[in-house]
Amino acid sequence: MTKGRASRIVLGVTGSIAAYKAAEIARYFMKRGCVVRVVMSEAAEKFISPLTFESITQQPVLRTFWEETQPGAIGHIALADWADAVVVAPASADCIAKAAFGFAESPLLAVLLATKAPVIMAPAMNVNMYEHPQTQENISTLAARGVAFVEPDTGDLACGWKGRGRLAEASEIFFETKRSLGPKDLLGKRVVISTGPTREAIDPVRFISNRSSGKMGVALAKEAYRRGAQVIVVHGPLSMTPRLPRRVSKISVTSAAQMREAVLSQLSLSPDIVIMAAAVADYRPAAPVSEKIKKSTSPSSIELISNADILLEVGEKKGESPRPFLVGFAVETGTPEELVAEVTRKLIRKNADLMVGNLAQDSFDKDTNRVCVVCRSGEYESIETAKKSEVARRIFDAIVKKG
Ligand code: CTP
Repeated sequence: MTKGRASRIVLGVTGSIAAYKAAEIARYFMKRGCVVRVVMSEAAEKFISPLTFESITQQPVLRTFWEETQPGAIGHIALADWADAVVVAPASADCIAKAAFGFAESPLLAVLLATKAPVIMAPAMNVNMYEHPQTQENISTLAARGVAFVEPDTGDLACGWKGRGRLAEASEIFFETKRSLGPKDLLGKRVVISTGPTREAIDPVRFISNRSSGKMGVALAKEAYRRGAQVIVVHGPLSMTPRLPRRVSKISVTSAAQMREAVLSQLSLSPDIVIMAAAVADYRPAAPVSEKIKKSTSPSSIELISNADILLEVGEKKGESPRPFLVGFAVETGTPEELVAEVTRKLIRKNADLMVGNLAQDSFDKDTNRVCVVCRSGEYESIETAKKSEVARRIFDAIVKKG
């Protein structure tokens, strides 16, 4: 998350029944390359032992003002300065209230006052406590000061009530932390990304599709979110439910015609960037039937007709306008040199601002990709084999530079 070294996360754990889930959150962050140090409130220790966190994080836990973690260092100030981000999960109503009013009676509250790092809070409490106007006012006060809140989930609560108050998933807390640490170069930008294959029905049980997994588009969506954008993903049928931040809007479609409709309707909302990463079927059966085709009546061939080219259509609508910044993808077979030439031809024909080319063997079914990024001037950049998340980062670097 932090360029060049592991991100340093201070995890604040407060006295909520959800405190036991903080162990899982610590592990989640560590698995993704972060160093985690925990500061616990006294009440949190009633729910989970500091030893659990010390064993998981391999770091001492800060519990009181009076213990020395390093000789000569003031524990809470050292921790506040060390942090790249302070994540309070679960954040109890009491902790939120005291933080809003600037109390410093515990090491965690003191860290929250002293740190210059971004603060992320994930509340967990009884629904009535959460919805109480005082709690909501405290949340607004902190949010206005830049604290990022990860809204609790709705469901059965440990106290017996049903409603909003369950601690958000570790992945959501992680996404929000990444966003707090990310560059803000897409802040407030509306980014539409299409991804995945489309399915063209032959009959109710058969279809024509392709091998696209949608992983590249999902990586692009996460990256755009990390950089502060408002993201809309239009996706075809994916083999796995993508783990995307819940604040990313997801529009699920099946056919090329539905994808076209979804993408074109997004155009009316004036997006800043449109990325067509979907592998849209070029053809569909001319006459899909509503009853299953039986072996005895199987046709020897299926007549196909062309689907509209969505990227071309968006490019035509855009004309000379700088917005939306239009990005296309092209999957080819052949040599890397042929790839650049073909991608450049497609960029001009479809009036895109940037075109990303990859070879089928480098991309399909993989978590890595190797691409070339071609821009209007004909300049291109080669991105050697890397994780799709890293390729997405480099693609957005190019978009931000050119856009
Ligand atoms: N695309 C689209 N609508 C289609 C087909 C493709 O929007 N019906 C978009 C893809 O999302 C991608 C780009 O066009 O961004 C390139 O798709 P590709 O299939 O490689 O291009 P084609 O023009 O279909 O060229 P060919 O199949 O001849 O290589």
